[in-house]
Amino acid sequence: MNGPTIGIDFGGTGTKAALVSVDSGELLTERFRIPTPHPATPESMVPVMAELIQSAGKSTAVGITIPSVVQRGVVLTAANIDDSWIGVDAAEFFSSELDRQVVVVNDADAAGIAEMRFGAGRGCDGVVIVLTLGTGIGSAVFVDGILVPNTELGHLEFRGADAEKYAAASVRVRKDLSWKKWGHRVNRYFQMVEELFTPTLFIIGGGVSKKAHKYLKYIDVRAEVRPAMLRNKAGVVGAAMAAYESTQA
Ligand code: BGC
Repeated sequence: MNGPTIGIDFGGTGTKAALVSVDSGELLTERFRIPTPHPATPESMVPVMAELIQSAGKSTAVGITIPSVVQRGVVLTAANIDDSWIGVDAAEFFSSELDRQVVVVNDADAAGIAEMRFGAGRGCDGVVIVLTLGTGIGSAVFVDGILVPNTELGHLEFRGADAEKYAAASVRVRKDLSWKKWGHRVNRYFQMVEELFTPTLFIIGGGVSKKAHKYLKYIDVRAEVRPAMLRNKAGVVGAAMAAYESTQA
């Protein structure tokens, strides 16, 4: 398989898809979006995926992100999605329901792959950590450009609870925190991650990456900190890259 691949980003509120050029990371179609059904069970997601694939056009391989640990296609956790996903071989399930080869990848890993290839992490070696701040906190860890999958640094324990319950972007909104207060929370979290991994670069992904000017000044770590560049395209592009690469392996 070569050429354009469909990437689908399965999010909490919306599921987005586009046909992606795996050479340039450009979207070759518009970004189609369908509201994610509730509950977003495996069965209820099939018609959503089918419609998005039809809109995005012709491609044999499809990559789908999921906000969970995924090992060899099997979903192992469900922190922010329906529990019915746990134990499902999502790659096999979608491949058979959608009648094509489907690769399933953790959402933060997908965003990280896209940023390393085409965005803020392009050409960066050493240890690079992408942290996506959204409903939860996702992480993608790279060593000389190679992904260590399913790192789940959002679930590190911080002050007796999951770090994502303290510093995710959703916490700022839910608790109506100022950017400064939230920025200090993010800072404490980044300092903890830095203490454990000593990365040379942090990339901040998720919707808040475009508001970096509001909180970047509160993040005081040794590593360089960059906002993600691909914004809301990262998941779709990374999903397509993961699908493409798995067919090359
Ligand atoms: C999940 C991760 C996911 C992150 C961002 C966390 O709660 O455990 O798998 O990457 O949220 O969606």
